[in-house]
Order: sequence, then structure tokens, then C-alpha cells
Amino acid sequence: CTTSILVMKEWQSNIKAANQTIGFVPTMGFLHDGHLKLIEEAKKSYDYVAVSIFVNPTQFGPSEDFDAYPRNLNADVRLAAQAGADIVFCPEVIDMYPEDSGIRILPGPLANRLCGVSRPGHFDGVLQVVLKLVNIVQPDAVFFGMKDAQQLAIIESFFIDFNFSTRVVRVPTVREQDGLAKSSRNVNLTVQERTEAPLIYAVLQQAVVLCQEGVSSKEIERFVKETLEKKTSGTIDYVSLLTYPKLESPTDSSADLIIACALQFSKARLIDNILFKKE
Ligand code: PAJ
Repeated sequence: CTTSILVMKEWQSNIKAANQTIGFVPTMGFLHDGHLKLIEEAKKSYDYVAVSIFVNPTQFGPSEDFDAYPRNLNADVRLAAQAGADIVFCPEVIDMYPEDSGIRILPGPLANRLCGVSRPGHFDGVLQVVLKLVNIVQPDAVFFGMKDAQQLAIIESFFIDFNFSTRVVRVPTVREQDGLAKSSRNVNLTVQERTEAPLIYAVLQQAVVLCQEGVSSKEIERFVKETLEKKTSGTIDYVSLLTYPKLESPTDSSADLIIACALQFSKARLIDNILFKKE
């Protein structure tokens, strides 16, 4: 694992000089099978795979879990290498943010819904760090999970709008046997909450069926919210049925749709979603 931005830039420039390709997987570490799937996918199509592990402070709000975010660098480096990573980049905060010019990327209206409402500024921080990481690694493709569907939609739009040469690749959500989406934050669930959490995916699957049967968005959102509030100890942050990747209220029945929700447990806020078609 290298902490050096310079070493990382040398690594990629040598690979490019040899006309080889780079797939890149940015992460905040505490790697699980979801992250490893992104690494494996990258390895299938690109000669070299770079993985970054950086708990990015600029995407955490003042009352969020930056300090409590789980970390285990030694295990991560081993897991990443086993999954096919050729280099792990784990920069220090001071090297990524040595001084603040105040220059920011504004994510625009895509960030005004879903997670953007309860996490103001979160996606500004995500775009800031992704831009920096992509400039350092200069990959041919960068891999993101559908688990964070809004993040992926904003990044796709950012890369198109700003003419990035890097391709953005979507990877489907990896789940536990019981359906719970794998997440670094799952370790912060209590034993009781862990038994309740699989209900999120189960209810979202029911919501997809209701939508395909013609039930209105408002009724579906209410059904998901009421079911999760009744049957779990969590509190709903949002439940939303939107088009994807534009994140608009659905009008046209041929659009790709997403049903997404965020459920706050005592020490973990879980998000999940399903991408589907109405017909
Ligand atoms: P992190 O939460 O560590 O996630 C890194 C990548 O793994 C993201 O693209 C995320 O969508 C993907 N991922 C997480 N859980 C997954 C699962 N169960 N199945 C498939 N993919 C999954 O997302 C971030 O870090 C940060 O915001 C980052 C993009 C690194 C910027 O700091």
C-alpha cells in the first residue's frame, strides 16, 4: 500500500507508457464482498487495477460518523490483493487536503433529493475527492456500486458534463444471503437491528411488484415507510420512487426506475435501492 501521491502518479504513468490499461476502484476501506466485486470486475477488463482506501473527511457532515467509520487497513490490503488489485493507494488526509483554496464542485439538483436532503454537502465532498483521485490515478475506467445509486448517478453526470476521458462502470449491489446489502456500516448494527435489516430489501422487492401492478408512487412510498417503521426499530429518512439516473418523478412508463430508501438505526444509517423497469 502506498500513501504517496507521487508514487501513485509514477505507477500510472509507467503503465500508460507501456500502452496498458487501468481500472480504478475508489473506496473508504473496511472492504467487504461488494468492494471486492468491483475489484474483480475491474480486473476482468483492464490490465492493472488500482484501489484507493481513503475515509474522505469532506463528505462527512459535522454530526456524522467520520471518527466512528470502521477502519482496518492491514486486512483491506490483503483482501484487495486477493481480489486482483495491483496497487492500493491509501493517502493521508494532510496530503490530500494540504490547504483549502475554497474551490468546490457543485453537484446541482441531482443532490437535492434522497441522501442529499439529510446530508447537505455530502455529494460536494464526494465529487471533490473523486475528481482528485481520478486526476491522480488517471484510469481508463472507474468502478462504482449501484448500492450508492445516487452517488453513481451524480458521478455519471459529472463525468459527461466535464468531458472526462475515464469511463464510469456500474456494478450491481452485492448482498448477504438474507438480502441485506453488504455495507461497511453493517458492523454498527446491534444484534436485534441485524435481524430486522433484511426487511429493507424484502419490502423494496414488494414495492417493485406493486409498481408493476400499477399502484401509484405515493402509495408505494407510504407502504414501504409504514412497513419498515412498524416492523423494525429504525426510523425512515426517506423512501422515494424516481427515474434513474435522472432522479425525477416518474411520468413516462418506459424509463428505468429506482425505489430507494434510507433507514436510520441506533448507530448505523443504512441505504438500499432496486433499479427496475415498470414493464
Ligand atoms: P464506499 O462506501 O467504501 O464504497 C466504495 C464503492 O463500493 C462504491 O462505489 C460503492 O457503491 C461500492 N459498494 C459498497 N457496497 C456495495 C455493495 N454491497 N455492492 C456493490 N458495491 C458496493 O462510496 C464510497 O466509498 C465513497 O463515497 C467514495 C466513492 C470512495 C468517495 O469517497
